[in-house]
Amino acid sequence: MPSKITVPEIRARKATRGQGEKLAMVTAYDVTFARMVDAAGVDAILVGDSLGMVIQGGTSTLPVTVEEICYHGRAVMRGTQRAHVIGDMPFMSYQASMEQALLNAGKMMKDGGFESVKLEGGKEIAEVIHRLVRMGIPVVAHVGLMPQRMHTMGGFKVQGRNAMDAESVLEDAIAVADAGAFAVVVEGVPAPLADRITHAIDVPTIGIGAGVGCDGQILVSYDLLGLNDTLKPRFVKRYEQFFRRGVDAVKLYVEEVRDGVFPDVEHSFGLKADGRPAKVSARFPTLEAMTLGEPQDVTDVPESHPAMELARAYGPTQ
Ligand code: KIV
Repeated sequence: MPSKITVPEIRARKATRGQGEKLAMVTAYDVTFARMVDAAGVDAILVGDSLGMVIQGGTSTLPVTVEEICYHGRAVMRGTQRAHVIGDMPFMSYQASMEQALLNAGKMMKDGGFESVKLEGGKEIAEVIHRLVRMGIPVVAHVGLMPQRMHTMGGFKVQGRNAMDAESVLEDAIAVADAGAFAVVVEGVPAPLADRITHAIDVPTIGIGAGVGCDGQILVSYDLLGLNDTLKPRFVKRYEQFFRRGVDAVKLYVEEVRDGVFPDVEHSFGLKADGRPAKVSARFPTLEAMTLGEPQDVTDVPESHPAMELARAYGPTQ
């Protein structure tokens, strides 16, 4: 089993200063995606509150709860062997008071199984970050375009475009890094500003819609795999067309079911060796069919399949 990527390892990856390779991060929300992106070698997985949009179909991240993030976190943790796993703190789970921030961040580590938490905000949130870090909760900060503030920002708009705003985003990044964040997500800012931030702070910057000058990048997995067919922001590169390919594959299945082509012999269970029809039990139909079938009928069933366990326990039925 590969060893886990740790917080100190990520903090040390200041790629723009020649300290290791750039960090490649993505979001994931379930065990299958976690297994897939972990196998691909990502350094960290974020269970983002973007799940409010890509999983729940909402128009913003605002309604997402700590419980929902924890639920998805547990699934992602089960599928991850190597990547570091970060949990996104939902809107209003850390703003009301220091106590609330500590309790919710603690809950994310205990119930969600997360190895660190991420929260959006700049100077105004620095004290919270400082406290969480002092209490042993590693924090990734998030500055620039902050989706939880979409209403204040007037939508998902690029931030720091004029000199004054750029200065403010830079100050935010310095404040959260000084407060102890071990990495800073820099979202939706002009590339030259992201470069400036990257050179100004000692911890890695993770860009999204912030150009190539950061120490790493993060994308929403559904965007990079082309699963989100409704929206394609300029900064997203689709490396696959999973939605289109999925529609095509399911179309073919529908066609084959209607034409009686599926299931064929290869995907059906057989008769007993003596040619008599299999006796199918109402309780364990799959088990009966498997134990009565020819051995080649079950070659695709893994040894650990629950039906195989039952078959071993009950033995063949006569
Ligand atoms: O919620 C999320 O997925 C995020 C990333 C896009 C940075 O915050």
